[in-house]
Amino acid sequence: MQPVIRYLKQNQARFVGELCDYIRFPSVSAQPQHRHDLRACAQWVAAHCRRIGLEARVCPTQGHPIVVARTPRPRRWGARRPHFVVYGHYDVQPPEPFELWKSPPFEPRVNGRALFGRGACDNKGQNLAHLKAVEAYLQTGTTLPCDITFVIEGEEEVGSTSLASFLKKNRSELKCDAVVISDTSMPTRRHPALTYSLRGIAAFEVTLHGPNRDLHSGLFGGTVDNPAMALCQLIGKLRDKSGRVAIPGFYDDVQPLSPFERKQLARVPFNGSGYRRFLGVPKLFGERGYTPNEQRSARPTFEINGLTSGYQGEGSKTIVPAWARAKITTRLVPNQSPARITKLVTQRLKRLCPPTVRIEIKPGHGAEPYLVSPTSPRAQSALRAIKAAFQREPVVLREGGSIPIVNDFKKILHADALLIGLALPDDNAHSPNEKFDLDCFANGQLMSAHLWQELARV
Ligand code: BES
Ligand code: MN
Repeated sequence: MQPVIRYLKQNQARFVGELCDYIRFPSVSAQPQHRHDLRACAQWVAAHCRRIGLEARVCPTQGHPIVVARTPRPRRWGARRPHFVVYGHYDVQPPEPFELWKSPPFEPRVNGRALFGRGACDNKGQNLAHLKAVEAYLQTGTTLPCDITFVIEGEEEVGSTSLASFLKKNRSELKCDAVVISDTSMPTRRHPALTYSLRGIAAFEVTLHGPNRDLHSGLFGGTVDNPAMALCQLIGKLRDKSGRVAIPGFYDDVQPLSPFERKQLARVPFNGSGYRRFLGVPKLFGERGYTPNEQRSARPTFEINGLTSGYQGEGSKTIVPAWARAKITTRLVPNQSPARITKLVTQRLKRLCPPTVRIEIKPGHGAEPYLVSPTSPRAQSALRAIKAAFQREPVVLREGGSIPIVNDFKKILHADALLIGLALPDDNAHSPNEKFDLDCFANGQLMSAHLWQELARV
């Protein structure tokens, strides 16, 4: 292991340069005009993998291509070698609004220990950390104690549409003992983390239709319902004062936090007034009876993501709008099911909708919540690797974000995910001025290097 660690230490500057090259591709999966940038980025990843000693191919899909890269398989004698898949994504969220970036999103810039650029932490820096660890093994001639296959896709930020069928088609090649994913976060630089649960999601678009066109509010207002007002009142009924979702049955399947989990979560540092200031809100709000760390990771929520109706331009326009629309997502926790929640939300909205407007509900994407044991032998291996790399006692966490494909890995490959996040809460994932901490990058490489040793031991 010593040569591996020395190699990583000696090559940090080059690695940072390579991460900059990776970030320069505007691989925005949501925007059709970037199709070619996604393909070019996938080709760059594959070429990079070949350069460090992996066998790599770019697999076309109905959407954006998937890169598969394998460590060279030694001739097998006797015992089966363990096999691990490392999953990551090379696509990124849209960079808009551009004017809020201090430097252009696809022109990476280093400032102190922060590397700024869209995709720096979500997820290019995190998957490159694993590639660099494996490079260190291959380039120093150090024997890897396991086989590793990288699967780096280009549609994570738009729902991973092609990945499930890809996993099915390549089931035997990808059969593995566990999937390693660094696409989550850690609470602070001093609290590296193993995440054992993620929230799921169910998305909806609700439209209320009123008059057949925008109307003069002086001539007609008062005789017809206002769809924007009706929508506000309707949605307003779905959350009560104590922060609970007011939909009958919504909490039925929620698995309560165990005392062990609450104790673990309480180890995660939290500073209420610092958090409040960081987010710029006058006061925090959340479900009564739970700490903010519990609220944002282990409790379900109902969120309005977008609200549109009527005139949005400058000045005023006196109308009763013809329609009003809300984009909604609920975050789900084990063992809620997106299908059942979709049914409950739809029923409730229809039930409460007044007869003065017509309601239209379009269900959107969904993902199951995820939960694995934080005390399994493999989780213990991961915790040892994290501790060795960061020189800190790791925390075990539930997290509030969603990675829909972790359930596909479970269902299709029967493999659990080890979620070892390297992003920090202030890395601005999905926001302007996204960054990646270069210490997290370096420690992430060390963690990956240790991880293969630790995992191969159990
Ligand atoms: N990497 C994130 C998910 C994440 C971040 C999980 C931090 C836990 C901690 C991922 O890229 C993401 O943003 N996922 C989306 C999925 C959704 C569109 C289905 C999310 O959580 O909103
Ligand atoms: Mn991500």
